[in-house]
Amino acid sequence: MSDAVTFRLMTEADLDAVLKIEYAAYSHPWTRGIFVDGMKSYAIWLMFEGSQQVGHGVINVIIDEAHLLNITVKPENQGCGLGLKLLEHLMAEAYAMKGRECFLEVRDSNRSAYRLYERFGFNEIGRRRDYYPVAGGREDAIVMACTLFE
Ligand SMILES: CC(C)(COP(=O)(O)OP(=O)(O)OC[C@H]1O[C@@H](n2cnc3c(N)ncnc32)[C@H](O)[C@@H]1OP(=O)(O)O)[C@@H](O)C(=O)NCCC(=O)NCCS
Repeated sequence: MSDAVTFRLMTEADLDAVLKIEYAAYSHPWTRGIFVDGMKSYAIWLMFEGSQQVGHGVINVIIDEAHLLNITVKPENQGCGLGLKLLEHLMAEAYAMKGRECFLEVRDSNRSAYRLYERFGFNEIGRRRDYYPVAGGREDAIVMACTLFE
């Protein structure tokens, strides 16, 4: 039987562990400074499987509009359903903070994340040309949105 999945909000004491997962998971990771500033304005959630930290996610809710700013599962733990669990938790928290619609941007090349968002209920609503840096150039962001329910 697998260990229970739990969540809690990030504190300064979690910075090193979060950055380790962030740098392992992304070609263009968020920096320490972004997380330090982020803790002041956003809800940053950590996910644990048993006692092991396996991911994090960041939401910002302004009035009734939520934005998913970061969702990351530790590379060794990807592909087991943890991404969906984390997304479900983040969207439930966004709803509890009175968010009624959530928006996000995803790299055009990040098909695994795109499929995860679609599986949850996000739809593609637009595209930002050359939004992200990529080795040797830029790539588009796909903009997705989802109505949130209880
Ligand atoms: C995107 C991300 C968060 C998804 O996390 P994850 O834990 O791999 O997500 P899931 O396990 O829920 O789903 C991933 C895949 O595993 C499959 N899967 C889930 N549970 C499974 C299981 N028990 N057995 C086999 N496959 C399974 C899903 O069907 C999905 O397949 P697909 O990619 O072909 O659609 C993760 O890949 C990640 O952190 N990537 C790097 C950071 C990133 O790009 N974040 C998004 C920025 S927009």
